[in-house]
Parts: sequence; C-alpha cells; structure tokens
Amino acid sequence: MISVLVDNIGELVTNVAGSGEGGPLGIRRRVAVLVEDGEVAWIGPAADAPAADRRIDAAGAAVLPGFVDSHAHLVFAGDRAAEFAARMAGEPYTGGGIRTTVGATRAASDGELRATVRRLHAEALRQGTTTIEIKSGYGLTVADEARSLRIAAEVSAETTFLGAHVVPAEYAARPDDYVSLVCGPMLAAAAPHARWIDVFCERGAFDADHARAILACGQAMGLGVRVHANQLGPGPGVRLGVELGAASVDHCTHLTDADVDALASTAMDDGQSATVATLLPGAEFSTRSPYPDARRLLDAGVTVALATDCNPGSSYTSSMPFCIALAVREMGMTPAEAVWAATAGGARALRRDDTGVLRPGARADLIILDAPSHLHLAYRPGVPLVRQVLHNGVPR
Ligand code: NIG
Ligand code: FE
Repeated sequence: MISVLVDNIGELVTNVAGSGEGGPLGIRRRVAVLVEDGEVAWIGPAADAPAADRRIDAAGAAVLPGFVDSHAHLVFAGDRAAEFAARMAGEPYTGGGIRTTVGATRAASDGELRATVRRLHAEALRQGTTTIEIKSGYGLTVADEARSLRIAAEVSAETTFLGAHVVPAEYAARPDDYVSLVCGPMLAAAAPHARWIDVFCERGAFDADHARAILACGQAMGLGVRVHANQLGPGPGVRLGVELGAASVDHCTHLTDADVDALASTAMDDGQSATVATLLPGAEFSTRSPYPDARRLLDAGVTVALATDCNPGSSYTSSMPFCIALAVREMGMTPAEAVWAATAGGARALRRDDTGVLRPGARADLIILDAPSHLHLAYRPGVPLVRQVLHNGVPR
C-alpha cells in the first residue's frame, strides 16, 4: 500500500490530551502526518517529514480525526418527508412513523436496501465520517432483521441489532410474544452480523422489564449494549443502560438528577465515564423539540458523544458538522467540546481506541478542512468545510 504524507498542516487536532494545546484536543501546529498501511506512521514537524509515495499539501488548513458517528439507522426504504412537513405544521413526533418505514423496508429488495445503505454511507464519508454505526430495526421479522444487518455489515464493522425498535403491528396485541421472538430466533439470526444490541426504551416502545430482558439476551450472545433512552420523556432507559454496563445511552433529552448521577458514577481512572451519553441534536432539530443539556452532563463528569441518528423519521441528516454546530449553538458545548465529542467521544461510545484519535498506530482516518481551525466547524454552519478525507489511509 502506498504511503501518504499530509504536509503543511496549520492545526492538527490529535485528541491526545496533553500532547499540545487545547487540553483534550491535543492541538499541534505546523506539523505533517505520514500514513502507511492504513495507519498513522509518524507525526512531527513538517521540516523533518520523511519521504512518501504521495504528498498532500494541506496548505495551512486544519486536520482532524475523521468523525465517528456512533448512532445511525441507514437500512430502510422510502422516506417520510410528508411526516416531516406535517410536524413543521404543528404535528407532534411520537415515533409512530417507524411502522411506516417498517412496511416499506419489508417490501424492498435486498438490492434496494443495499443501494440506500451505500448511498448514505458514501454521503457521510464525503462529509468526513470515517466510522459509522449502523442499526437494523426497520425489518422486525427474523429474515428482515438478519438481512438488514448483513447488508449493514458490508460497509461497517459497527452494526447493531435493534429488533426491539417498536412492537410491529402484527404483534400489537401480544407484546410478550414479540419479546420472545426478539430474544430467541431473531437474535440468533442477527447476532452473527452484529457487534451491538440496542432497545428503544420509551413509553410506546419497550418498558424497562422488556428492555432488560432483551439486552440481557444480547449480552449472553456476546453483543455489547446500547440503549435509546429518555428521548421523548423521562424514563428508566438511562439507568437501565448503566445497570447493564452499556457502552452508550443515546438521546438523553429528558434526564433527572438521578440519571445524571448514575452516568457520572461510571467514571473511570482516565476521567471518562464508562457509559457515554450520546446526544443526537439532529433529532431535536427535525422534531422541533427542546435540545438535551450537554453542559449539565459535562459538568457532572459524564463523557458526551455527538452522533447524527440518521434515519428517515426523526433526523434525516448524515452531517456530523451540522450536529457540531447545533451542539455549540443550542446545547451549551464549546466548539472544542463538540469536536471532541464528534470524534473521540464517538469512538468511546463504540469502545474503540484505534480511531477518533491521531497518534502513531491509530487508524489513518483523518479529514482536511477548508478552514484554518476546528472552530470553523461550528462558526460556519451549513458550509461544506471537509475538503478531503483519508479513510484507512486511502485518500477519497
Ligand atoms: O432514534 N427513537 C427511535 N428511533 C429513531 C427514530 C426512528 C424513526 O422515527 O423512524 C430515533 O429517533
Ligand atoms: Fe436512533
């Protein structure tokens, strides 16, 4: 594989705390990065840069780790633009539209689902996302959940079984039977293609007992736990996630002090919390809802990640820069905190230490901005600032 030298970097965000300015961002200036065999091989002053097969001139711009989008639902068919329009005319979001997408997804061919996943994956990559988690959850039959994960696994190693997204219409009168299906044959068919299990723990979806049972079955099959928690109202999801050692609890829009304390109680020696709070401001934007309070979580010592929640209902965006801008403008995060949360924070939420960070040995996932500083990601909302992406060391 060819080696690539990214030279003439004005500002390098490493996310190696203490290795430069900016605290956790570890910012280094006027450096070059050599990538070889898909990994970062060397970082140092541009004047000392080793030879490489190819040179990319960053022209004084900012270079960052690629974004780690730790929460997305890319396997679906159809869209719900009319539902969005109705919401913007005053209808509330209840999650009820999930069943509309389930119908369309079941009716779609493998080829149609694959084309959508590949289109959205490419769209995210163009905007700087080099790692993306992909959930099932719009199939809700054994065969449709298994094929959703099979197709997701073609483009990402971070796949999540979300058979417990909602109780499908045909099980509406017997939710216990659906939980048995999810824990039994559906999980057995899904697990070979999944790294994680997730449950939508919310009024109208799955209660704490059902969610606990499903997540425990997934854990017994070797899957890591994540939870859709406290999105539409207060509830047991966050505390359940902490109880089960979840890597992440996601949404966290409606939190009590007890929820925040539970998350903070998972603090580890490195100052991060073992259970990350993943905030998804695209969902609040697209459902016109109050944003989660990132400041409260950060001040309590909870590790925060930002992700898109890309899905056809509540948040049809694949743009991590958009989420960064929202988090800074609406959720009390500084630009530095938001950039960290969208890179290193996402990696934490996926229990990964090989990406979201730029140091020798890490994966060569990095982005070159059309801007001199990471600050511009929030300062210039809506502007396509990602000039070039290197994914696994390959320029895209
Ligand atoms: O994360 N909350 C549950 N699931 C998705 C929404 C899915 C949909 O509306 O289609 C979410 O917001
Ligand atoms: Fe989601």
